[in-house]
Amino acid sequence: MASSLSCLASDQARYHKIFQVFLDCSTEHQCMKEFILSTLPHVFTSIVQGKSSINILGVGSGSGEMDLEMLSQLHQQYPGVTVDYEVVEPCSQMMGNYKALVSKTPNLEKINFTWNQMSSSEFEKHWKTKQSTKKMDFIHMIQMLYYVTDPDATVSFFRSLLSENGKLLIILVAGESGWGRLWATHCKELCNSEISQCITTYNIKSYLDTIGVSYKSYLLPSTMDITECFFPGGEKGELLLDFLTEVSDFSKSASPELKGRVLDSLQKPECSTVVDGRVIFNNTLEALIVEP
Ligand SMILES: C[S@@+](CC[C@H](N)C(=O)[O-])C[C@H]1O[C@@H](n2cnc3c(N)ncnc32)[C@H](O)[C@@H]1O
Repeated sequence: MASSLSCLASDQARYHKIFQVFLDCSTEHQCMKEFILSTLPHVFTSIVQGKSSINILGVGSGSGEMDLEMLSQLHQQYPGVTVDYEVVEPCSQMMGNYKALVSKTPNLEKINFTWNQMSSSEFEKHWKTKQSTKKMDFIHMIQMLYYVTDPDATVSFFRSLLSENGKLLIILVAGESGWGRLWATHCKELCNSEISQCITTYNIKSYLDTIGVSYKSYLLPSTMDITECFFPGGEKGELLLDFLTEVSDFSKSASPELKGRVLDSLQKPECSTVVDGRVIFNNTLEALIVEP
């Protein structure tokens, strides 16, 4: 039966606050930074190939921390390359944070930002209305495909914007992560919105395999300390529970029975391990580098 609980993603201000709590309790951005340092240099080499300027598109960039990490890596490799950089981000607060971060970050003189405060589907309409023929050398969608109604169609549209040597980077939670296991059990009773929400890289890889598109995949081991979720009434634990269930105010709006079952699942070895008395959730991500 579909859930009657209210979806966290539709409350942008609460989502924004909770995402910050999640970042503080997890190694989410650290594992992405390691990936940017270890793997993206090879991707940038294949993209740049002697060009003096390239086009990049970030979809669902949030406050831009990972975008600027990628740009820093690109600048180290190719200090002379100019970049036309389009950002697609619907949340005004996140975009405001991103612009503030840009204003205090050095070495961005060669980056020309275009800010599109809109969702990916609005951007697609806008792009088609403009009849733009511009091609992108690098597109990234980091932890955003949960929030679209049709992830396959979204991947297909953005792939169609890639240049000949272009690459699409998709990062989502891995099928084998705690998220994958949690959603396999509870997705239907937690989510009632039109968005895809419970997808993992397993779903995207199946789609790419079906349509015969090549990609490389990289697991990004990551953890999240969810110990506070097991102390009733604590603010941090309740915010983390909202993030894990993607339900706004889960502790107060879910039935005690559902809450009990979710907490039970979260403690299972398929989702978490106990380390030094802390409950550590498996937040492993997977990055896909998709060919045009
Ligand atoms: C989990 S955050 C990830 C932010 C950033 N990529 C990162 O990894 O730090 C998801 C982001 O997707 C954005 N988002 C939500 N719905 C979207 C949509 N339909 N199209 C594009 N972005 C969306 C949110 O506003 C948020 O900034």
